[in-house]
Amino acid sequence: MVVLTYIFDWMRRLSIAFRNQVPHVVTYTRELPISLERMYENALDWEHLPWLHRSTFSHLEVLDSGDWGWRAKAYMHPKSFLTYMIIELRLDRDKNRWITKTHRGLGKGTEIWTHAIPLGENKIKVIVDFYVPKLPFWLKKSYADQYTDLYARLYDEDLWMMASRQKELDRVSKAKHSEKVESLSLGKLTEVETQLPLAFEFNHHPFRLVKLNGEFRAHSLSCPHMLGPLDDAAIHDGVLECPWHGYQFDIQTGKCVSGQKCRLARPPRIVVDRESREVFANAV
Ligand code: FES
Ligand SMILES: [Fe+2]
Repeated sequence: MVVLTYIFDWMRRLSIAFRNQVPHVVTYTRELPISLERMYENALDWEHLPWLHRSTFSHLEVLDSGDWGWRAKAYMHPKSFLTYMIIELRLDRDKNRWITKTHRGLGKGTEIWTHAIPLGENKIKVIVDFYVPKLPFWLKKSYADQYTDLYARLYDEDLWMMASRQKELDRVSKAKHSEKVESLSLGKLTEVETQLPLAFEFNHHPFRLVKLNGEFRAHSLSCPHMLGPLDDAAIHDGVLECPWHGYQFDIQTGKCVSGQKCRLARPPRIVVDRESREVFANAV
């Protein structure tokens, strides 16, 4: 399939262009229950491509980035010269749009124009137009179907990220003005043991109680990078990985062990009351 895509792309690139304009192939539209701010943030976030969209991108190396957009070397699956591309995304806030161009490799010359129209406080409509140069007429339908399917999947994944992030941002801002407690009972030791890993909220922050080397350990379930959910992150050798951008954290120390400058929120101290045999989360 990858080889076939590569061959078709070369046939397209070698065919003669009858006009200078890049021809339009298909339009994908979708309403999303999120703000324009979340959408722009997502467009500028090159880092999530090989993580959140791991089924599409196998690898990405950023070459340049800023408020204007980003330029990167990217690979689809599997990582090889057949799937190599240089992509650039430029955001134009005044025109409510960003243009993604493929400058080299697979899909060279392709332009994807996305307009994001605000429909309400937390509602936008995206209109994505795909332009592909030198496309023989007999390949148009297949390209149109592929782009539509691909973008439906990418936006499903993006929507999950943008909506979860908004929910977390709302939680954080609410938590600032809420009352704090010093101690919270998590239940009887015998019950808690059977419920591990046990998710709980302490002072409006999500944590998870696990056992490491025979000892209780609580860790934050909100990634310090962009508030990604760590609820389903598996723990390997005391380290968990965020699904949005792949940052890794040591749950004993909270330190980021994948090289970025951030750390997990401090967890409450877990104590077992000797007399009542109850497990408590205590403020530190
Ligand atoms: S939100 Fe980016 S790595 Fe977790
Ligand atoms: Fe995305």
